[in-house]
Amino acid sequence: MKIRDASDGAAVAMAALIIRRGGLVAFPTETVYGLGADAQNPRAVAKIFEVKARPRIDPIIVHVSDIAMARKYGEFPKCAQPVMEKFWPGPLTLVVPKKSSVPAIVTAGLETVAVRIPAHPVAQNLIRFSGCAIAAPSANMFGCVSPTEARHVADQLSCGADMILDGGPCAVGLESTVLSLAGDTPRILRPGGTSIEELSGMLGNLDAGGAVTNLPQAPGQMESHYATRTPLDIVEENGPEMNPGEKTGLLSYKPVSRGDGYAAVEILSESGDLREAAANLFRSLRRLDAMQLDRIIARPVPEKGLGIAIMDRLRRCSAARKRPDL
Ligand code: TXA
Ligand code: MG
Repeated sequence: MKIRDASDGAAVAMAALIIRRGGLVAFPTETVYGLGADAQNPRAVAKIFEVKARPRIDPIIVHVSDIAMARKYGEFPKCAQPVMEKFWPGPLTLVVPKKSSVPAIVTAGLETVAVRIPAHPVAQNLIRFSGCAIAAPSANMFGCVSPTEARHVADQLSCGADMILDGGPCAVGLESTVLSLAGDTPRILRPGGTSIEELSGMLGNLDAGGAVTNLPQAPGQMESHYATRTPLDIVEENGPEMNPGEKTGLLSYKPVSRGDGYAAVEILSESGDLREAAANLFRSLRRLDAMQLDRIIARPVPEKGLGIAIMDRLRRCSAARKRPDL
């Protein structure tokens, strides 16, 4: 079986060997599981695009183990230093001008590169044992919900990865925040596991507007993404409820007083905690999606802290019904 327990050091060593030899390894990070390849091996990176059916125009994040290693791949402006020191390792990806060491396939031909130091010890060990930076998108089919457990990867991509390292459920449960430091003003390209409030405390002129109100425009930031197969609508507490005759699931942030009539109810956080809700979001969406429902109704969450990223994912998921191929 190619799912291996990541607490077994021999499995991580074997995974590193696979990476060095140009193979693909799915591995846990604190955000979601990634599908990794040697970032400097264009043929290995090409396999990632094939396995995920990911368009070649969508660039991939380079994962490194420390700041010195990050500098081998990107030109970090002065303002990046305190950000890197405060938020790395952690759920923050920085987009900066790229160095020539990064193959074009990784950045989809862009002059910028996205770099991140993951906090998960298994991800860190995998990078160190491999001796190379690891290019890794989330380990799901393109456009679908990201995996937060090893079996989610096995369900979607089992034939694609040469090994899946099982490190248990991901603690953050949402992808990293993508922050561009490549332009005149720092700009959020994707809200995620590092809150925008924390970042704007450090970067006074942070442009987060696009991420909060509209859907951000960046490569790979398609309006429909993170999609369930079941159509999902975001409906306020007192908004229109389920349609008669439809088998409907409810995704609620807090415990509900009226769950009657729903075929299934998923509560993201018993105590109304946004971190807990974020950690449970993708697992709950998967559970509902496996139930052959006609429709999922999602209640909005407060748009602060991780709630901004949760609402971003829900909005994209609800936009996905416009895609005929899902
Ligand atoms: O938490 C995460 O970020 C996870 C884990 C595995 O690290 N990775 C992840 O990768 O979510 P992916 O490929 O699913 O999403 C990365 C996003 C994409 O929307 C991509 O377009 C954007 O980052 N991105 C990557 N390089 C970029 C660049 N040079 N400029 C702008 N956006 C970039
Ligand atoms: Mg992804």
